[in-house]
Amino acid sequence: MKVLVVGNGGREHTIAWTLLKSPNVETVYCTPGNGGTATMANCFNLNLAVDDFQGIAQSVAEYNISLVVVGPEIPLSLGITDYLQEHNIAVFGPNKAGAQLESSKSWAKELMIQARIPTAKSVTFNNGDLAKAHIEQEDAPIVVKADTLAAGKGVIVAMTTEEAKAAVDSLLEQGFTTLVVEEFLAGEEASVLAITDGETIRPLIPSQDHKRVGEGDRGKNTGGMGTYAPAPIVTPELMEQIQTEVLEPTIAVLKQRGIDYRGVVYAGLMISPTGEPKVLEFNCRFGDPETQVVLPLLDTPLDELLIACTQKQLAQQPPIKWKTGSAVCVVAASGGYPDAYEKGKVISGIESATAQGAVVFHAGTAFKDNQLVTSGGRVLGITALGNNLKDAIAKVYPAVESISFEGMYYRRDIAHKALNH
Ligand code: AMP
Ligand code: GLY
Repeated sequence: MKVLVVGNGGREHTIAWTLLKSPNVETVYCTPGNGGTATMANCFNLNLAVDDFQGIAQSVAEYNISLVVVGPEIPLSLGITDYLQEHNIAVFGPNKAGAQLESSKSWAKELMIQARIPTAKSVTFNNGDLAKAHIEQEDAPIVVKADTLAAGKGVIVAMTTEEAKAAVDSLLEQGFTTLVVEEFLAGEEASVLAITDGETIRPLIPSQDHKRVGEGDRGKNTGGMGTYAPAPIVTPELMEQIQTEVLEPTIAVLKQRGIDYRGVVYAGLMISPTGEPKVLEFNCRFGDPETQVVLPLLDTPLDELLIACTQKQLAQQPPIKWKTGSAVCVVAASGGYPDAYEKGKVISGIESATAQGAVVFHAGTAFKDNQLVTSGGRVLGITALGNNLKDAIAKVYPAVESISFEGMYYRRDIAHKALNH
């Protein structure tokens, strides 16, 4: 079978790598892909943008591709699935209506209320003065969010009302017209990714991302500086609760609204100090870099699960099998990220990291004059598996240290928090 993966990040490299482990998959195409997908055996990059739906449909026919897996939220929110389904192409990823789960925070909030899903209280505003009056009334800490997709830059967790009001002004100045003001939730975050065919929903193992740039969870928000799985904070009992209180009600309401959702439901959760889960946000796709630790632990062939979702046969699938042990992924980033950074730095040491047993997933890399160079803020995700988290941590860092490029930095405390659980 031939599969096309849409996207160019570490998540897409991981999806392609996992698909190629399956005995059923002979070739994976990525569009546009990156330096990692360009150099992996049986993997080929196509030069089509993620929103070139017509070009993608043509390539599917030309290369005899059986399944399209969509990585990023943007093509999903633009309706890639609707377009490809109209052309009778099997696609894993929700349609435009389903992608609102991520593309509109207010739509997702309304769905959570209808489904009685535990979440932070919030109010939506189209007027800055009203938003500020509400902030004064509620007091800080409080959270201000842009309603639409903002690549991680649309959320401000404000510790004072002044900061929150400044966030309102700043988001309006940046052109966001609808804002969501939300109750601050204390606790520890976890990511639960689940796959669904619109009828049945099955969780993957829980993971935890490190969104802040600095060690000890300090500094600016990033796309994610590292992950680990399974996350011990999500106990089997808590996972049961998330299944019945979050995942199943989400699918029930989507169905009730006539939305045939076939893809990933990603629940970003805050686990309160007393162990109660609340949904911070939904995403409509695999997490990045959560995928880099979840899929390497998957034992069931990924294509079987994804195809079962596209064919609405997930209920007939045997239970998902997982490898024992844990995975840790450390992101190697460009100096300056998440602010401005330079590109085109030559990367060395990947072979050495691989020889030590780590898997190096490329995120922002490209080939230039026959050399692997940096082309993004998050450059590589280095994943190691171990018998447990401590073992995986001990394996991943020497591998990270053998890689270098000018300005490279990474967090040295990935997964350390989990050791206390
Ligand atoms: P989001 O894009 O909605 O996940 O928000 C980005 C990050 O902001 C989350 O991963 C949390 O760390 C933080 N955050 C969002 N909403 C809240 C909230 N209601 N309370 C506390 N932190 C939040
Ligand atoms: N790791 C956060 C995200 O994928 O949105």
